[in-house]
Amino acid sequence: ISLKKYNTFGINEVAAHFIEITEPTQLLSAYEAGIFEKDFLTLGSGSNILFTQPYAGYIIKINIKGITAKQHQNDIFITAAGGEIWNELVWFCVNNNYSGLENMALIPGTVGASPVQNIGAYGTELMDIFYSCIAFDTLEGVFRIFYNEDCKFSYRDSIFKSEQKGRYIITEVTYKLNSSPSINTSYGAISAELKKRNISDPTIKDIAEVVSFIRVEKLPDPSTVGNAGSFFKNPIISSNKYQGLKELNPDIVSYNMPDGGVKLAAGWLIEQCGWKGKVIGQAGVWKNQALVLINVQSASGTEIFELSSKIINDVDQKFNVKLEREVNIF
Ligand code: EPU
Repeated sequence: ISLKKYNTFGINEVAAHFIEITEPTQLLSAYEAGIFEKDFLTLGSGSNILFTQPYAGYIIKINIKGITAKQHQNDIFITAAGGEIWNELVWFCVNNNYSGLENMALIPGTVGASPVQNIGAYGTELMDIFYSCIAFDTLEGVFRIFYNEDCKFSYRDSIFKSEQKGRYIITEVTYKLNSSPSINTSYGAISAELKKRNISDPTIKDIAEVVSFIRVEKLPDPSTVGNAGSFFKNPIISSNKYQGLKELNPDIVSYNMPDGGVKLAAGWLIEQCGWKGKVIGQAGVWKNQALVLINVQSASGTEIFELSSKIINDVDQKFNVKLEREVNIF
């Protein structure tokens, strides 16, 4: 089976086996059939993966649907099945005036993938509103519940991406939202756009609309230009190292971290190396946001991977900072 329509990069690799899961119990049957003793890879929308070779194992595509809401005092507990599309969940919540997801509007991908790398954007991270999830343990063949602290969330990371990578298949996630809106305009781009629109007292709908607008301006739409969002993580360095870099590069873009480290805007570093908008063969760097690599039309995964290596190398040479890939490479 071709994986082209199952990854937002639009890479045309093939997989030997493909199983679509629409009910959690199908995972038990797959376990009993011994599928998880072979090579397998769980896929939501394929919006954070780069295939660089054919896959001989089983692709497990999660397509379980359903959303329920339960109110407890001011808290709303939203439980969504793993195959729900993230942005549709965001708008379900916005339209019901449940607050907490609006800053993460238009992030590509599914509910089941949302905890894996602790998705985040425009001042909110998943870990801020994540309550629990249910995941199938492919080693033991049972469903387990994980609460927020069990997931060891940090910037673009959780146990599902690091120490337990590949082991669990997330079938549903419960988010703890608020029925009395708390508006987060801490991200500069949001407050600037609200000001332009003369909105001084934004609703959560205003926030979701503004965030969507900013994303459309900056990020390529995967349905027309293959990409997987930010290809690299923003690197976090010590404040000592930052002081040195700042002296040589007074314009460097950075954010202070609560623990004293400094997060650098990788997009800025890449742009300074002259990569923004550059294309090599079929692989390119997006013209409006250098952190995003694109498939011009018919790139192979290897072509994109090689471009990313060149960028990592150049940023290292120029700034002595090692960029890490945020996208999963297969
Ligand atoms: N910048 C440049 N050149 C560029 C891109 C960025 O100079 O080509 C500088 C600009 O000064 C800009 C600053 O970097 O103000 C920050 O850029 P932006 O607001 O676009 O955010 P980012 O740090 O590049 C991160 C996330 C995005 C998320 C945005 C908004 C990561 C790896 N990326 O990007 O997440 O949407 O913040 O919160 O943390 C994703 O993970 O796929 C993703 C798109």
